[in-house]
Amino acid sequence: MFDVEKIRKDFPILSRKVNGKPLVYFDNAATSQTPQQVIDVIVDYYHNYNANIHRGVHTLSQEATDLYEQSRQKIQKHFNAKFSHEIIFTSGTTHGINLVANGFSSILKKGDDIIVSALEHHSNIVPWQMLCERTGANLKVIPMNDEGELVMSAYDRLLSKNTKLVFVNHISNALGTINPIEYIIEKAHDSGAAILIDGAQACPHIKPDLQGLDVDFYVASAHKMCGPTGVGMLYGKEAWLKKLPPYQGGGEMIAEVTFEKTTYADLPHKFEAGTPNIAGGIVFGAAIDYMNSIGFDTIAKYENELLQYASQKLLAIEGLKIYGTAKNKTSVISFNLEGIHPYDVGSILDKLGIAVRTGHHCAQPIMDYYKIPGTIRASFAFYNTKAEIDTLVEGVKKAKMMLS
Ligand code: ALA
Repeated sequence: MFDVEKIRKDFPILSRKVNGKPLVYFDNAATSQTPQQVIDVIVDYYHNYNANIHRGVHTLSQEATDLYEQSRQKIQKHFNAKFSHEIIFTSGTTHGINLVANGFSSILKKGDDIIVSALEHHSNIVPWQMLCERTGANLKVIPMNDEGELVMSAYDRLLSKNTKLVFVNHISNALGTINPIEYIIEKAHDSGAAILIDGAQACPHIKPDLQGLDVDFYVASAHKMCGPTGVGMLYGKEAWLKKLPPYQGGGEMIAEVTFEKTTYADLPHKFEAGTPNIAGGIVFGAAIDYMNSIGFDTIAKYENELLQYASQKLLAIEGLKIYGTAKNKTSVISFNLEGIHPYDVGSILDKLGIAVRTGHHCAQPIMDYYKIPGTIRASFAFYNTKAEIDTLVEGVKKAKMMLS
């Protein structure tokens, strides 16, 4: 039985006050909150296991290494990757995308096409633009429609034998649209292209089956999934990871170093130069355990209830417009009040203890499509409540009154 009040007790931060009011945290798409069970693992690591990994014969180093590698296996199992060495620890989604984009520098040629979507976060646009500058490849864009959905017939037309790589997010951070990635992956492969899916916004809501999806690369961040910032994962099919060159040089990613020649370590270490975020990597696994203890079906069902409830209540406010009305969307509501700047509404909501994100959400092309400077974005997690949504609705009404 899903008991939101019981779950809320796991999150110490949810009982704090902001500006004298109980915190209403609706900025989950930016970063999720951390339950005590996960915080305990961070503390336990520094109390008992803090050491560098893969380097020492001493007990602490071996224990820390075991915990780190066990976490990698947990992540492998959660995402259903075939091998644990297909999971590369990164500093987050952005790092994973840059790693792949860098690797394709030696694969792409002038005149090749790579395809992005109109719904991307800047982190899934800019690294590919930089790749095009280095290689002379062309960047093509799958357009969006007014509902905030990708136009699949246009995608079909963009694909050709020149297409080498497609990269699309699983869920849009700005609008919450769930993209038809099964179709996008299949079509990319039919054209002989590789495909990367940015799963940063999907993994808090959905448990992706990477072998089932047959995706080539998938990237995610722990901090959107009740884990810490500064750690994430890149999944790559073994064959692709073997083909791509290392991203950074340094310790741990080598087999042998001489001044004449260096050979590289096997996967996954080839892509993990330097001392990693050891505590973060271990805690990422604990965060996944926590989310699985609630269950992704339960999470998705409850968050959808919150989405429907909030959409209905917010739309009852005159002059309020929701951007992103895709049939298939997750618990993100981007909206504006007619004639009022989103930043002003966000500031008033903050005074009321309500945390939302305002602005372009690192997705300027979406804002340009709608010809707006930005939106107010409320993004819900499984620990939010309908009562908190009522507080948001009252706050928006108050902001409207004060700013009209
Ligand atoms: N990508 C994060 C967001 O959408 C930071 O807010």
